[in-house]
Amino acid sequence: MSEFEPARDAPVRDVSAEADVDDLDIEASLRPRRLSEFIGQPRVREQLELVLEGARRRGAPPDHILLSGPPGLGKTSLSMIVAAELGAAIRLTSGPALERAGDLAAMLSNLVPGDVLFIDEIHRIARPAEEMLYLAMEDFRVDVVVGKGPGATSIPLDIAPFTLVGATTRAGALTGPLRDRFGFTAHMEFYEPAELELVLRRAAMILDVDLRPDGAEEIARRSRGTPRIANRLLRRVRDFAEVRADGSVTRAVARDALAVYDVDEIGLDRLDRAVLGALVRSFGGGPVGVSTLAVAVGEEPGTVEEVCEPYLVRAGMLARTPRGRVATAAAWGHLGVTPPPDATGSVPSPLF
Ligand SMILES: Nc1ncnc2c1ncn2[C@@H]1O[C@H](COP(=O)(O)OP(=O)(O)O)[C@@H](O)[C@H]1O
Ligand SMILES: [Mg+2]
Repeated sequence: MSEFEPARDAPVRDVSAEADVDDLDIEASLRPRRLSEFIGQPRVREQLELVLEGARRRGAPPDHILLSGPPGLGKTSLSMIVAAELGAAIRLTSGPALERAGDLAAMLSNLVPGDVLFIDEIHRIARPAEEMLYLAMEDFRVDVVVGKGPGATSIPLDIAPFTLVGATTRAGALTGPLRDRFGFTAHMEFYEPAELELVLRRAAMILDVDLRPDGAEEIARRSRGTPRIANRLLRRVRDFAEVRADGSVTRAVARDALAVYDVDEIGLDRLDRAVLGALVRSFGGGPVGVSTLAVAVGEEPGTVEEVCEPYLVRAGMLARTPRGRVATAAAWGHLGVTPPPDATGSVPSPLF
């Protein structure tokens, strides 16, 4: 099989939380612009409000901000909101784009006072760039190394006071020194179904979809606690409603549509179910290491760990233990498989 061919049975991930090409345009139009428009995350919103208001009153840039949480929960949106609330310009880059310290030096030296610098996937920043970032975050200064070998000199360069907003799906992968330089860390949580209903209603207004309350409830319940997925499922259900029904999105229409797209009652898609299925059927409920599990479903360990697992844990289907991943009783139940009496994961509250 060529490396470009998708794995056999590669799941069509309508509930993937990663943005695909088709999402990007639409997402721009659906992004909340101000903190007051941002739905859910009440703790993060309140804390951020204080951080931003404090900075406004002092007339100085706020502390550097780290946003952590699974994909699709609103980290990029929030970073743009931070800039908007401060009346500042935002410069966007990402960890993987900052391969050499020079890439970062170029960005930093172009900043004007008060700018917001957004680094997405900041846990993937290369080490030399990360080290340059320490000094920049702390003292608004960089040391640019000129030349090579014994003749190399380092020239200190002042940069404009700025606010770094970092986003990461893996806060645990950040080094201590980097994490410590953020004055404020926001942990984004999965959204409650009621919050997702609000996200859906707002999107339906913008996209001019006739979304009925029971339809919104049904889609919200199957959106894995994730606004990006809610918005995407809304578009899939709208297609179905227009082609196979009269255009309104009712509960019945949502159900039938989501069955076509392989999204189950609680929002698990084929990859989620493949992971649970492998855990239960091939590994007797675990414990099993995440890489072994990933190989069994033909996925990258990173995808399984950062995209599938957080929601499976949240849904009470999977537990992460020091010895590996374990299926909970709910997982066996959800798959309709009877656990053997000695299955590790079949106890209602695994010991870990
Ligand atoms: N709190 C929210 N309220 C309304 N829509 C949201 C919210 N959070 C996310 N969204 C929607 O989800 C999409 C994805 O959010 P994004 O900020 O790109 O997530 P992340 O950067 O965490 O992956 C946005 O385009 C927006 O439409
Ligand atoms: Mg993002």
